[in-house]
Amino acid sequence: MEILAVDHPLVAHKLTTLRDLRTDSPTFRRLADELVTLLAYEATRDVRVTSVTVETPLQPATGVRLARPVPLVVPILRAGLGMLDGMTRLLPTAEVGFLGMIRDEGTLQAQTYATRLPDDLSGRQCYVLDPMLATGGTLAAAISLLFDRGARDVTAITLLAAPEGLAVLEDAFPETTPIKVVTAAIDERLDENGYIVPGLGDAGDRLYGTV
Ligand code: URA
Repeated sequence: MEILAVDHPLVAHKLTTLRDLRTDSPTFRRLADELVTLLAYEATRDVRVTSVTVETPLQPATGVRLARPVPLVVPILRAGLGMLDGMTRLLPTAEVGFLGMIRDEGTLQAQTYATRLPDDLSGRQCYVLDPMLATGGTLAAAISLLFDRGARDVTAITLLAAPEGLAVLEDAFPETTPIKVVTAAIDERLDENGYIVPGLGDAGDRLYGTV
């Protein structure tokens, strides 16, 4: 598994404002959206393309277009939805699937309550969106589900990751599995309730203004 914590002053700047408890929901949503676009730029460095030739007003020029099948973007409901526009801004032709997963706050285990994905994901590059890689249970379950449908190339994009969650993912999949995690930062640890510390609180609540 490859882990990339994106080191860029604009990423750090936006993340700092997201962490700030005084940041209101509209600002949080806008900044999360902008931050995802920056992360998506890094996450799509290996997106598959094919060579094409186009006619400029002067002469033919060689270039590339996204290869088929187009990538699949999978936000994990609910909080991953707040990352979808930021991602599809860079990949407007991507297909979008949905996974509804909820963390049982008692056991911290992920439960799947909705699946809307193509049946066959073989040959597909998949980008999973989930803002907080905390215990790793939700992402491990989501990635397994994509693998069960034939995906072999999965990148998870998160705003924050905890070392404990990254370790869970590393244990869940063999070292050579083509999984990549792209995140704005790796924080210190999880607290006893499974929250990332220092973190930014409950990403879904802050995105959607839930008190
Ligand atoms: N989910 C969140 O929204 N925040 C955390 O810190 C951990 C999981």
